[in-house]
Amino acid sequence: MIMERIYITDVAPRDGLQNQSVAVSTEDKFTLISKLVDAGIENVEVTSFVSPKAVPMMSDAAELLPKVQNAFPHLNSFALVPNLKGLEKAQEVGVKEVALVLCATETMNQKNINMGLPEAIQSTLNLIEQSKQLNIRSRTYISVAFDCPYEGETPLQRVVELARQMYEAGTDQIVIADTIGSAAPAQVSQRIDEILKYIPQEKVVIHLHDTRGMAVANAWAALQSGIRWFDASVGGIGGCPFAPGAAGNMATEDLVLMAEQSGFDTGISLPKLLHAVDHAQQALNKSLGGGSMKWLRQNVKAAAPLNLNTQKVFT
Ligand code: COA
Ligand code: ZN
Repeated sequence: MIMERIYITDVAPRDGLQNQSVAVSTEDKFTLISKLVDAGIENVEVTSFVSPKAVPMMSDAAELLPKVQNAFPHLNSFALVPNLKGLEKAQEVGVKEVALVLCATETMNQKNINMGLPEAIQSTLNLIEQSKQLNIRSRTYISVAFDCPYEGETPLQRVVELARQMYEAGTDQIVIADTIGSAAPAQVSQRIDEILKYIPQEKVVIHLHDTRGMAVANAWAALQSGIRWFDASVGGIGGCPFAPGAAGNMATEDLVLMAEQSGFDTGISLPKLLHAVDHAQQALNKSLGGGSMKWLRQNVKAAAPLNLNTQKVFT
């Protein structure tokens, strides 16, 4: 039987690390990315070209990105840019793909990039256009696509409109983001079903956080609705500095385990992914891992093929 493939982007080096209190060296970030690549991860959000005053952890972007691109030419590595200045800085070091952020509410845009919603829409459209002209791919996050920490539930029609507008402007992927991790599976199905009426399924990515322990259930709902692209963060590292209450991202290992056990191919080795978790734990000096971590630690011991349906200890 040919297993259907799903595609995972690990966002730990950017979304995961941007809110950590411990400083992480460029070398440690590079080692973490190397371990992700070794585990089979094909897409990584490496860093962001943002104001170093706003997010000090990302101030080594111009050093880290080319280092990663040179070391792993086949890796789809990309960087977040909040504005034209960020795009220019990223272009100077040869970025091939950028992530753009459009928050779906007025207040969240103000808090994140100091712009209102209409300005942010215009700015994102300009960035999509500029990227195209520079031959740089783009993925556009529709942030707070479920709930906003400042404005409550985000109107679905607005999310659909923004996603559609950015897609029609030519961005390569639309990332529907549950930035604060407040969504439940029924809502995920409802919102994704609506969005997929207007945007082809292979262009839509879901970005989940695990604040309420529902990320994997939400990923399953998205899978059932036809989504095949997922963002996740190794060890579940994460949290947005501008969105109070946002906890870690969906842990990559939780997603891989759920998807493989459900008959999907991820191309990712769980034992090797655990080496990446080990490195992140060391770098951040704290224990990490999603809801499956305890079970994985006990059952996944080596890079042998896994029979995920049994409770046996794998060696
Ligand atoms: N990269 C580096 N520095 C930047 C920059 C960028 N992309 N954009 C602006 N700056 C610098 C300016 O040069 C200026 O520096 P100065 O104070 O030394 O003169 C300072 O930031 C303020 O610039 P300004 O144009 O007035 O922007 P702002 O104050 O409205 O800030 C952002 C806008 C978006 C750059 C800033 O708030 C930011 O980087 N936020 C981080 C967003 C983020 O990472 N969110 C999480 C991901 S969703
Ligand atoms: Zn996020």
